[in-house]
Amino acid sequence: MILENTTNDYSILGYSIQYITLHSSHIGTVYIDPNERGQDFGGIILQHVIDYARDHDILRIKLQVNTSNIPAYRLYQKYGFQTIELLPLYYSQDADAYRMALLL
Ligand SMILES: CC(C)(COP(=O)(O)OP(=O)(O)OC[C@H]1O[C@@H](n2cnc3c(N)ncnc32)[C@H](O)[C@@H]1OP(=O)(O)O)[C@@H](O)C(=O)NCCC(=O)NCCS
Repeated sequence: MILENTTNDYSILGYSIQYITLHSSHIGTVYIDPNERGQDFGGIILQHVIDYARDHDILRIKLQVNTSNIPAYRLYQKYGFQTIELLPLYYSQDADAYRMALLL
């Protein structure tokens, strides 16, 4: 999903990647241009991802987030994701992840 600035120059404000299988989906990432953060755009994209999944009979959305990525972790929490598991060394030697999930 791509979020464009339709009131100005149609520049890309951010995007998300969602993988969908039968009744489950996985968020690969939500990304907002660094100059455009803190204006609810991440929340707008995430809400669209959730709505799209709900409309397509998805029962659960999962994702991994770096434990040090507080903005992203808080964003997912705000939209109802629960932390279900700690994944030690998931990204590298000293970077753990949380697995989070949202039941629809
Ligand atoms: C995470 C990211 C998508 C948030 O996008 P954003 O547009 O700045 O976020 P929003 O303005 O929509 O904020 C929504 C909520 O996210 C959380 N949040 C966002 N930035 C935050 C920050 N700097 N510190 C703490 N919480 C933050 C808050 O819960 C916020 O809600 P609030 O404003 O009511 O407190 C953005 O920081 C980003 O692109 N990061 C780099 C890419 C990345 O790490 N993606 C996640 C990979 S899993």
